[in-house]
Amino acid sequence: MSISTQSTDGRWSSRWLFVLAAAGSAVGLGNIWKFPYIAGENGGGAFVLIYLVCVACVGAPIMISEVMLGRKGRASPINTMRKLTQAAGASSRWTFLGWMGVLAGILILSYYAVIAGWALNYIWLTASGTFDSASAQVATTTFDQLQQDPLTMMGWHGVFMLITIWIVARGVSRGLETAIKWFMPLLFVLLLVLLAYSMNSGGFAQGWAFMFDFNWSVIGPETWLIAMGQAFFTLSLGMGTMMVYGSYVPEDSHIGSTVLTIVALDTFVAVAAGLAIFPLVFVNGLEVGQGPGLMFVTLPLAFGQLPMGAVFGTVFFVLVSFAAITSAISLTEPAIAYVVEEYNAKRSRVAISLGVFCWILGLGTVFSFNIWADVKPLLGLNFFELVDQLSQNIMLPLGGLLIALFTVWALPQTIVREQLEVGSDRVMLCWRVVGGVIAPLGVAAVFIYTLLPLFTG
Ligand code: PFF
Repeated sequence: MSISTQSTDGRWSSRWLFVLAAAGSAVGLGNIWKFPYIAGENGGGAFVLIYLVCVACVGAPIMISEVMLGRKGRASPINTMRKLTQAAGASSRWTFLGWMGVLAGILILSYYAVIAGWALNYIWLTASGTFDSASAQVATTTFDQLQQDPLTMMGWHGVFMLITIWIVARGVSRGLETAIKWFMPLLFVLLLVLLAYSMNSGGFAQGWAFMFDFNWSVIGPETWLIAMGQAFFTLSLGMGTMMVYGSYVPEDSHIGSTVLTIVALDTFVAVAAGLAIFPLVFVNGLEVGQGPGLMFVTLPLAFGQLPMGAVFGTVFFVLVSFAAITSAISLTEPAIAYVVEEYNAKRSRVAISLGVFCWILGLGTVFSFNIWADVKPLLGLNFFELVDQLSQNIMLPLGGLLIALFTVWALPQTIVREQLEVGSDRVMLCWRVVGGVIAPLGVAAVFIYTLLPLFTG
C-alpha cells in the first residue's frame, strides 16, 4: 500500500518538539482548572487513583491509535481517514470521524476561549492587588461581577482568541513550534515555583493527604465515569488533535514511548496542580469542594491571605493562560489543516476566519452567564451547557470509541506492527485486548452514562 508520506504543513523539527507540542495540547484548563475541582468534589485520593487507571487503560491506547493513524495518513484527520479507509478497503463512512473532530474542535474552542479569557483577566486582577487580604465576600463578588458583565468577558475572550490565531496563522514551525518552545518550559518552571511556594505554606501535609489518602467509601460507578471523561478531555483525545499532531511526527520516532512520555507529563501537571492548590486552600481553612469556583474564587482568596500572595497569584494565572493557549492552538489544527490541504488556501486567512467564527460562536457562552442565563433551547440546558455537553461528553467519547475500533479491527494489522515497531505476537495480542476491547468498552460506558441522563431527564 502506498500513502504519501508528506503532510501539507510540514513536520515537527524533532521528536522532542512533538512531545512538547502534544503535551502542550494535553496540559490546559483540564489539568489546572478542572482536575483539582473534580478531585475536590469526588473525595481526593480515591478519585486520583481511579483517574490514573483510566489514563493508563483507556487514554494511552487511544492516544497511541490517534498518533499512529496520523503518522500513517500524513494529512488532516478528514483526509487521513479517507486515505486509510481506502488503503484498508474499509467503508468510507469512517471519514465521519474526521468531520466530527473538526466540529468538536470549533465548539470546544468557542467556550474554552471564554474561560481562558477569565484567566487572562485574573492575571490583571491579582497583580493589581484586588485580592490582597480580601474577604470571601470580595472574592465571590469579583467573580460574580465578571460573569454578569458581557462586555468585559467579550473583550478578554477576544484577546485570548487573537493570541491563539496569531500563533496558528504563522504555521507549524514558525507559529506552533516557536510558541511551544517558549511556553512549555516556562509553564513547567512556573508550576515548580508554585509547588515550592505551596510546600512552604504550612498546609502541604494536609494537601498531600487529601490527594493521596484514599477512602474507598466515596467511590461509586460514577467516580469511574467522571474520571474517564476527565482522562479523555485532558489528553485531548477523540477529535483528531493527536492525529493531526501525529501527522507532523518524524518517521523515526517510537510512538509507544513518545505517547507514554506525553501521558506522564500531562498526569504530572494535573497532580502537581492539585498539590500546588490544595495546601493553599487548606491552610486558609477554605472548602475544597467548591466546583468550578475553586480556581476563580477560593484560590484568589487563599493567595490574598498569604505572604507575597499577589506575586504568586499572578504567576498562577500566567501559568493557566500559557497552558490554555497551547491547548487552544491544537483545537484549531484539525480544521485548519483540512482547509489548507483541500483548497490550497492561505493558512493565515483560514486561521483568521476560524478565529472570527469561534469568537462569534463564543458569544453564546458569554451570554449564558448573564443575559441568556435562562434561555434553555434544548433538554433544559443553556447554550454553554449544550455546547459543552455535546462536544465533551458526546463527540469526544464517540470519536475515541471509533478511533480505537478502527485501529484495531479495520486497519490492516501489518500497518499497526510497522507503526508501533512490534515484532512479538504476544505484545500484539496485548495491544488488541487493551486497544480493541478494554478501551472501547470503557469509552462506551462513559458514553452511555453521559447520554442517558440527557434523555431521561
Ligand atoms: N486537553 C485540554 C485541556 O486539558 O485543557 C483540552 C483539549 C485540547 C481538549 C485539545 C481536546 C483537544 F483536542
